[in-house]
Order: sequence, then structure tokens, then C-alpha cells
Amino acid sequence: MSWVSKTFNSTLGKKLVMSLTGLFLILFLVVHLGGNLQLLLPDEGQAFNIYSDNMGTNLLIRVISIGNFAFILLHVIYSIILTRLNKKSRPVAYALSKPQNNITWSSRNMGILGTLILIFLLVHLRAFWYEFKFGEIPTAVYDGVTYKNVFAIVSEAYSNILYVAFYVISMGFLGFHLSHGFASAFQTLGLNHIKYSPLIHKVGIGFSIIIPALFAMIPLVMYIKTL
Ligand code: HEM
Repeated sequence: MSWVSKTFNSTLGKKLVMSLTGLFLILFLVVHLGGNLQLLLPDEGQAFNIYSDNMGTNLLIRVISIGNFAFILLHVIYSIILTRLNKKSRPVAYALSKPQNNITWSSRNMGILGTLILIFLLVHLRAFWYEFKFGEIPTAVYDGVTYKNVFAIVSEAYSNILYVAFYVISMGFLGFHLSHGFASAFQTLGLNHIKYSPLIHKVGIGFSIIIPALFAMIPLVMYIKTL
């Protein structure tokens, strides 16, 4: 067996896959948020539609996008494998252990939170990504060039209060998932140091509040604009 397959078959290797894919997805979230915040510009979606078109046609971005889907899949598959391994190695919970005393609610519920985020993602991809790639969507013309009007699809979706509520609640789940996942990824990579760990922890908490809050703000503001 080569050292590569040996590494990825070990428990540490599997954790490494979880943390590396998780960190990539965290990076994706920042880029995705930056692009999506253009939805709030007072230009009837022009900047966002041109940006979406560039993202959809740029070869490098398309390759990164395939990597993104592959990393989401790996992150989910390895989380299932690791949960099963954990259960196998400790079929009966420690009699005296009181996990609520020493670990956070988020860390105990990463599987549930991850599942809820996966459900959000499937609904989200069907409504936006699938429509953008394969649906028949309206067009908009800027400077004589025709673009897909993704802004129209997003605005339509966020005119429904139930859809907005679904997004806001899901961003809450994302926040809790990130609040444990961020620092945990660095720890698995061996980047825990008496000096830097508290800082990584604080940055993780800040990140897990600010990023989901900004994501949640987009449907909320767009809904308010329709009133
Ligand atoms: C207000 C919040 C959000 C809005 C308005 C939004 C909007 C969109 C739109 C319009 C697309 C299709 C066009 C494109 O590929 O760029 C898309 C794709 C996608 N979104 Fe979101 N999104 C939001 C939040 C999220 C969140 C929180 C996640 C992850 C947890 C996410 C994950 C994805 C993924 C994985 C894709 C496919 C990207 C690809 O083609 O590689 N989105 N989103």
C-alpha cells in the first residue's frame, strides 16, 4: 500500500480530508458571499448578472466549481465514515461521561447540523444553480450585450417570506456548524499552539457569526424591498 492510500485510510487521514475540504468550503463561502452581496446594489441586478455570467463562462472558475462539488461530496462522505468509526470504537457511551460539561453543543451536533446544511444546499442548488445552468430564465441587456437575469430569479424567490425564513434559519445552522468546524480544522492540521489556539478560536467564532449573518441579510433586505 502506498503512503498516500495508507494516510487516507487511517483515522487521522480521514480527519485530514474533513479539515482540508472544510477549509476549502470556508474559502468558497467568503468568495460566494462577496459575489452575492452585489444583489443589494441599487442597480436592478446589473453588477450581479454580469458577475454571474463571468463566473459561468470563465474556464478556471468552472474547474474550481467542479472541485467545489467534489469537496462537498468528500466532506459529506468522510463525515459519515468517521461517525461510523467512532460508533464502532465506542459502541457504549462512557458511563460517567457527561459530554455537556466539557464540549460545546455544536461539537456534539456536527452531524445533525451538517445534515440540515446539506438539505439547505440541495434546495438552494435546485432553485438557483440548476436554473442558472439549465433553466429557461429571463435575460437582461446591458450595453448591447445579453445576459441571463439571475437577479430576477433570486428576487422572485426572496419575495416569498417562507423561503426567506428557510434561508435565515439555515444560516443559523451554518453558523453553529462553523463555530466548531473552523477551529477544529486547524487543530486537525496540527496548528494548535498554546499561543495561537485562542486567537484561531476567536477568529472562528467571529467568522461563524459574521459570514452567516451577512448571507441571511441578503434575502431579508431583498424581501423588505418588495414590501
Ligand atoms: C443569500 C444567500 C445566497 C445566495 C443569494 C446565493 C446565490 C447563489 C446563486 C445565484 C447561485 C448560482 C449561480 C452561481 O453558481 O454563482 C449559487 C450557487 C451555489 N451556492 Fe449559493 N447563495 C447563497 C448562499 C449559499 C450558501 C450559504 C451556500 C453554502 C452553504 C451556498 C452554496 C452554493 C454552491 C455550492 C453553489 C454552486 C456553485 C458552483 O457552481 O460552484 N450558497 N448560489
